[in-house]
Amino acid sequence: MKKLIGLKKTKTAVFISGTGSNLKNLIKFSNTKKSPISVNLIISNTKKAKGLRYSNKYNIKKKIINFNNNMIAEKKILDFLIKKKIMFICLAGFMKILSKNFIKKFKGKILNIHPSLLPKYKGLNVHKRVIKNKEKISGCTVHYVSTQLDSGKIIMQKKVKIFKNDTAISLAKKILKKEHELYPAAIRKILN
Ligand code: GAR
Repeated sequence: MKKLIGLKKTKTAVFISGTGSNLKNLIKFSNTKKSPISVNLIISNTKKAKGLRYSNKYNIKKKIINFNNNMIAEKKILDFLIKKKIMFICLAGFMKILSKNFIKKFKGKILNIHPSLLPKYKGLNVHKRVIKNKEKISGCTVHYVSTQLDSGKIIMQKKVKIFKNDTAISLAKKILKKEHELYPAAIRKILN
């Protein structure tokens, strides 16, 4: 639809805390014609996040925000979002919990990717718990961020089969591959 009526891509910020493979994937996606988003800002809560290297590689502005004080941190983030005219946020391995106040300000405009078939396995150490419980299937979910952790409306999911010899590490790898298909698909579903 956007393409047909010639609208510009939605300016997006990606929030990370670690490796940033989803960030890299979203940047690559955003550089394609069919993408409804452009990645214009990378936010990290730590300077140690490996994904920050994609800032230089793809020439995208980055901001490292210290979360010792959540209120101050979120105020700084909001200022950057306004300055860069960001209208959409993708959390991609961002390991801080945003406040209700922040989420309400961006209601319906923050997505998260989680490495389980929500509502199962919210929170941390998902793959370890999945393997321990001898699940036969897991996967990943893209959902809207609501004020409850990992509980917002589900947009799309992808399933992954678990085999007897799978470990938390092998499962994480398999799911991450699916995440890279899922996140762009979910964004297209809601923004196209
Ligand atoms: C991904 O598996 C993502 O689903 C997960 O962290 C990983 C980040 O990988 N997110 C969460 O667990 C959020 N609760 P990446 O840094 O390579 O994109």
